[in-house]
Amino acid sequence: DQIPNGEVTYQSPSNIALVKYWGKKKHQIPENPSISFTLNHCKTITKLSYSKRETQDEKFSFDVLLDGKENVDFKPKIETFFNRIEAYIPFLKEFHFNIITENTFPHSSGIASSASGLSALASCLMDIESQVLNLSEAERIKKTSFLARLGSGSACRSLEGELVVWGKTESIKDSNDLFGVKFPFKVHDHFKNYQDTILLVDKGEKQVSSTVGHNLMHGHDYAETRFKQAHKNLTDITAILQNGNLEAFVELVESEALTLHAMMMTSRPYYILMKPNTLEIINKIWAYRAATNSHVCFTLDAGANVHVLYPENEKAAVLEFIKTELVAYCQNGHYICDQIGLGADIV
Ligand code: PMV
Repeated sequence: DQIPNGEVTYQSPSNIALVKYWGKKKHQIPENPSISFTLNHCKTITKLSYSKRETQDEKFSFDVLLDGKENVDFKPKIETFFNRIEAYIPFLKEFHFNIITENTFPHSSGIASSASGLSALASCLMDIESQVLNLSEAERIKKTSFLARLGSGSACRSLEGELVVWGKTESIKDSNDLFGVKFPFKVHDHFKNYQDTILLVDKGEKQVSSTVGHNLMHGHDYAETRFKQAHKNLTDITAILQNGNLEAFVELVESEALTLHAMMMTSRPYYILMKPNTLEIINKIWAYRAATNSHVCFTLDAGANVHVLYPENEKAAVLEFIKTELVAYCQNGHYICDQIGLGADIV
């Protein structure tokens, strides 16, 4: 009763995992710890208006517009999200919500908008919650990440920058399965303003969703070995990010990307999300690295697009390489230049 009608707008970025989250237990608890770079330009901007409900005919009352249009896929996702967070957001059933959401990246780019979208929505809801709870900034971010995780696991890593760890790991004391935490150590200068150019190889809807993929890790022949490996990689990358060993970084990050896809290829049923052009790009990156002293490398999420990662001081050279050798493999020549960012913000 203490909350008046109002509106709030948040923007929240996407993130790209270096050590991948793949496999989960009940209630969106990850099977292994993960770490990601928060992005800067690939964002969702969400305006949430809320007014006291007049009718109680449905459990939750909300309208949603995505990039100016009603979107049939989005409504059930929000319904599921609301059901999962209901217990933690007492006012959820008292209001009608008008959700207007826009992405800075093209809707059908094959870039997942779930991390940015759900972290933006969770941020708006927590802004309302903060009117009644007297939370410190740290507590607010923690609970926002907790809620975002219930929407989409990786979304809990989008609230802060520049590196966020999610999932209990020995190498980071306060790490947690329930929410993301900022990487607590001083990061080496080599990783300052690290660049991510996203090559849009295939903008189509992917054939197998992440939800199905996570579930296929149950009973997967290599699951236990993979979870153990992710723990080790998290420990190793914790050291690498501090000591600035770029060779070790490249090897770990590319291995993680290929392992993620190897898990898909070796599940039952098995599937492949990479496209021929994904492999062409990977081979070109390897050839470029062999011919120069570049530290450019690639990573992949659960799709065919390639994230090209490189230090800021290589920006001019790598962009030239991308334009002359890699753009040809992108759908309609499309790519997005991004870099490490700082997380969600009120607008
Ligand atoms: O957050 P989800 O359930 O969409 O899973 C994302 C999983 C990967 O993007 C493939 C890896 C990661 O850690 O972000």
